[in-house]
Amino acid sequence: MNPALIAPAYSRIRIFLHWLSVSLMLSLVLAGEARHLLTNLTAIPMRSVMVVHIGGGMALLAVTLVRALVRISSRRARSAAFSLQDACAHAVHLAIYVLILGECLLGWIIVNAKGFAVPMPYTGLEFPLLVSADPALVAPTVRVHDIFGWMLYGLLALHIGAALWHHFVARDHTLARMAWRQRPQAL
Ligand code: HEM
Ligand code: HEM
Repeated sequence: MNPALIAPAYSRIRIFLHWLSVSLMLSLVLAGEARHLLTNLTAIPMRSVMVVHIGGGMALLAVTLVRALVRISSRRARSAAFSLQDACAHAVHLAIYVLILGECLLGWIIVNAKGFAVPMPYTGLEFPLLVSADPALVAPTVRVHDIFGWMLYGLLALHIGAALWHHFVARDHTLARMAWRQRPQAL
């Protein structure tokens, strides 16, 4: 039997953090990719668009760190029937974690290299500087931030495609395990 048909559901906290990451990712990508289009077509200033991108990115960084901790602490509870398909899914999940963390740190470095600190919304505080102001660092870091972004989109497309394939073609419980309702049994 396909292990995904019998594998237990994720815990509520992992499901909540997953869907929170999805909404943060969606808003920060829209703000990042469509920033020129948005500011050209509307009266929204670039500053506000970047507040959404940077604020969303820093929130995603925090949520991803918490997710990584929760994931590490629940590792032993994994299903016993571990297949090659599971191994591929885990490799993709791991790569998503690494790329998100790398992408957010690169964004943080861009802001610092441009001579600014990353603000902590609603607190008046700022995140510490990772690098000091350095105009020569900006262009290469923006380039790598862009490349990492596309690598992440590619992996997420694969990830979402796989989730839809499981649900509509294989018709197993993979998507249901990450759903708030229809939980067979929590890990
Ligand atoms: C997973 C998280 C992130 C993704 C996928 C992402 C993606 C992107 C993309 C696609 C762009 C547009 C690049 C271009 O115009 O060619 C961009 C720009 C930018 N991002 Fe991010 N970003 C993320 C997180 C962050 C974070 C956490 C920060 C800051 C703390 C940040 C700061 C910036 C800045 C300052 C720019 C403008 C760069 C420039 O001057 O052209 N990003 N990001
Ligand atoms: C509509 C979009 C999405 C759907 C339908 C979806 C669906 C799923 C499903 C069904 C799983 C469980 C897979 C399994 O048990 O093998 C999963 C896990 C995972 N997803 Fe997504 N996902 C989506 C978007 C995203 C996005 C945008 C991210 C990154 C920000 C992401 C990151 C992850 C990670 C890291 C895991 C591994 C589980 C964990 O560590 O908590 N997903 N997703």
